[in-house]
Amino acid sequence: MTHLLWHDYRYYPYERDLARREVLSVLGLEGIEETEQGFRLPADVDREKADRLTYFARIQTDDKATETVQAKLEEAARNGRTRQATRYSVHGLHEYKGKFNPQVAKAVLNIFGVGPGTKVLDPFCGSGTTLVECAHLGALGVGTDLNPLAVFVANAKLRCLSIPASTLLGDLARLEKQFKRIAATRLASARTARDHYLRAWFEDEQLVRIENVRKAVLSACPHRAEVFLALASNLLRDYSEQDPNDLRIRRRSSPLPDTPFQEALLAACKKFIDRLEATQRVLGLRNVTGQALLGDVRDLGGELVDGPFDAAITSPPYATALPYIDTQRLSLVWLGLCEPEGIGPLEGLLIGSREMKKRQQQALANQLQENATHLPNPQLAFCRELAAAVGPADGFRRQAVPVLLYRYFSEMRDGFRSVARQIRAGAPYALIVGHNHTVLSGIRRDIDTPKHLAELATSVGWHVSEVIPLQTYPRYGYHAVNAVEAETLLVLKNGRGAAGP
Ligand SMILES: C[S@@+](CC[C@H](N)C(=O)[O-])C[C@H]1O[C@@H](n2cnc3c(N)ncnc32)[C@H](O)[C@@H]1O
Repeated sequence: MTHLLWHDYRYYPYERDLARREVLSVLGLEGIEETEQGFRLPADVDREKADRLTYFARIQTDDKATETVQAKLEEAARNGRTRQATRYSVHGLHEYKGKFNPQVAKAVLNIFGVGPGTKVLDPFCGSGTTLVECAHLGALGVGTDLNPLAVFVANAKLRCLSIPASTLLGDLARLEKQFKRIAATRLASARTARDHYLRAWFEDEQLVRIENVRKAVLSACPHRAEVFLALASNLLRDYSEQDPNDLRIRRRSSPLPDTPFQEALLAACKKFIDRLEATQRVLGLRNVTGQALLGDVRDLGGELVDGPFDAAITSPPYATALPYIDTQRLSLVWLGLCEPEGIGPLEGLLIGSREMKKRQQQALANQLQENATHLPNPQLAFCRELAAAVGPADGFRRQAVPVLLYRYFSEMRDGFRSVARQIRAGAPYALIVGHNHTVLSGIRRDIDTPKHLAELATSVGWHVSEVIPLQTYPRYGYHAVNAVEAETLLVLKNGRGAAGP
């Protein structure tokens, strides 16, 4: 008899559901009995396997109780005893809008039987949550994303898993010395588009400090600069003239932080390296072979990724997506990942982008009218229904929703087609998809994105294997307005697929 004991944070119902599925898949055991404290299993279990599970803190048998790997990882990143830690290991290197809950990613990987020797694809990998969890489990995770900041951050996270924390501490000491050596300088006159752009968003004094940090990182730790630059990039918006709490770019009205930028960075580095050290005590150093690649999900063939993959998992962009690029402009430009004039066109390339010029709207309206991309009937009918519901009082953004949705559905369908070519026949593809809504002529219209994506995937050869609701409620007692809208875990199976051995 074995008792698997819950962590001491409050669970969403879906987490218990995922926990059960994980136990079935990883331990292959039936006859699970749920108790107040966790799951009681009728037999002894293979501890090494049980240690892979996500939602349990301890494994207890008659004579022995041990803490799980997950509990040890989360322990080092706890923010209050009753909260689930989501920034454990290297996940806290850099914030990213729409970031996966790493526990869900890990649970799904376990349910799919991912481990050493398996190859996993995350076609919209963002900041690399899936890739990190693959590395923890000893699997090869490859990701693609069109946002160069996402690729930069994801690869920096993966790299950290293979650098001893003590090496980074040495770098940090050198960096601190270098900061002391740098005398305050004045800004040279702006020469490049980058200079002009940064000057528009930082006070001169602030920008001097921030640019000095960049120089100091490149000279004090050139071989691991990406780690420290990523940590600095994560603080940029707080020290800029942009309102850091706004998804849109607006001038801030709140004061800048009191702590000087260099000091805040040193503190952030120390906290991150401490967590990494705790992680390495549990997992050791990882020889990470996975990586994030800059590329478009619709174009995975050719040289981009090296399939076939045994599974895919992702959280795709939303139907009317978060402005990923927009809110990360400062980082993209400061890190030299994108020229200021490249920001708009880059945003426009992303699936789910709201970026659209007036004349494009007309072209898209014609496409919708003619069904130029040959969308299946239900999605076409839905977009047309929304177009008919647009009223004179709806502004430009709302008027654009039907055509943007048409473009989103068409591009996601192309993405499904492309992923299918990289995945083994019969292999699973999990997507965590949010529900959306819009308001047209004053009436709320729900957009059941998971259902539409399932139908679009089916139209290009995938089979729907499972649709698992991830209902959320305010876990920590916030008012319901702050609660994330429900999401769905959609599991597809590749009906065509790449022929694999
Ligand atoms: C919901 S986010 C993924 C977040 C990720 N799971 C994480 O934990 O950070 C969706 C991602 O899709 C990317 N994206 C949008 N269109 C894309 C495309 N055509 N090809 C590849 N990536 C794309 C965006 O840049 C964004 O990073």
